[in-house]
Amino acid sequence: MNNFEYLNPTRILFGAGQIASVANHIPPTARVLMLFGGGSIKANGTYDEVKAALAGHFVVEFGGIEPNPHYETLMRAVELVKSEKIDFLVAVGGGSVIDGSKFVAAAAVFDGEPWDILAKGGKVVQGALPFGAVLTLPATGSEMNSASVITRAATREKRAFASPHVYPQFSVLDPSKTFTLPLRQVGNGVVDAFVHVMEQYMTYPADAPVQDRFAEGLLLTLIEQGPRVLAAPEDLSVRANIMWTATMALNGLIGVGVPQDWSTHMIGHELTALYGLDHAQTLAVVLPGILSVKREAKRGKLLQYAERVWGLREGSEDARIDAAIERTRAFFEQMGVPTQLSSYQLDASAIDAVASALEAGGLVKLGEHRDVTPSVARAALQLSL
Ligand code: NZQ
Ligand code: ZN
Repeated sequence: MNNFEYLNPTRILFGAGQIASVANHIPPTARVLMLFGGGSIKANGTYDEVKAALAGHFVVEFGGIEPNPHYETLMRAVELVKSEKIDFLVAVGGGSVIDGSKFVAAAAVFDGEPWDILAKGGKVVQGALPFGAVLTLPATGSEMNSASVITRAATREKRAFASPHVYPQFSVLDPSKTFTLPLRQVGNGVVDAFVHVMEQYMTYPADAPVQDRFAEGLLLTLIEQGPRVLAAPEDLSVRANIMWTATMALNGLIGVGVPQDWSTHMIGHELTALYGLDHAQTLAVVLPGILSVKREAKRGKLLQYAERVWGLREGSEDARIDAAIERTRAFFEQMGVPTQLSSYQLDASAIDAVASALEAGGLVKLGEHRDVTPSVARAALQLSL
């Protein structure tokens, strides 16, 4: 295990009814911008609850942040922040709204060309407006991390940045707010959280048994709770467990001191930018192929995963690895997230396009060994045609 520094400054307010307390965590004189998406929060009552909680504050609203939030849209919010002299943001929604608000928080005080925040990966960020979040979709972990993923619609570039300045100050995790999610988004969330764990776990042994067992616990929980939420969508307890698992999957804890991969995410981002697939759909397509193609480099962890997560102890090493990859694919399918490009009406031409986009974006050395090149991505995607 490598040296690390770990600090997570986000306060979590977990459970039904917690929205009512958000005002306690915002300075009383703050000028607040409330950011949200396409309207789900109005349909399910979250909007009214947040407005009621902020009744004592000056509040301006900015709605219409789209899934895979657009730079162009967010720059309009930055203008509003400046014209209204906003000094606190409240993001109400899923990962897209929270990620978008992180970008707005950083861009509002950024001196220079705002796209550089994404082009240069967040290193240029020197500060950001403070903000809090009310999460309505468990998936990304954005509610307790410092990452954000933004799409420039004009150029079809989907780019991430991370900065310690954009941790939410607080996040409300009220699982009752997830009852209105379409099942497609529920399945997406479970798959996204699963792949977040895999990106930090499925590399090579690093003598980090705490991180390994935390990661395996999260994977086992998703395998157990995921099908339950589809079978009993009204069960608050299952919703709560999924919400907490997704947060823990990407709040940095399981990734400290260990190698990380993230190639599946980078390849997947290109599929979303080019063809509009949901984020989790891209992961379900890419991950099984990456595990197959990188089986030598990942052999030790693949065998550990096969045994500890899927209980596979019989047969040759390669048979166990094949079975573990097959179980993973079947789990994604069970969660309603198809794992083949053809399920999304895509063919081999999409593989060429993704490889070219990775090349053009300079994303040519991905993965824990920096050896996932565009041609490796191509080989992985060919296994999911
Ligand atoms: O826009 P509204 O009307 O709110 O509808 C949303 C949206 O259409 C809807 N929704 C959200 N909560 C709902 C609801 N519908 C009914 N009831 C509710 N309670 O769900 C749709 C999808 O929302 P979105 O926020 O786009 O989904 P998700 O949370 O999966 O976020 C995906 C984005 O996060 C990025 C992805 O790349 C993508 O852009 N990621 C961010 C990460 C991070 N910050 O660490 C890591 C992830 O790997 C990921 O890359
Ligand atoms: Zn993800």
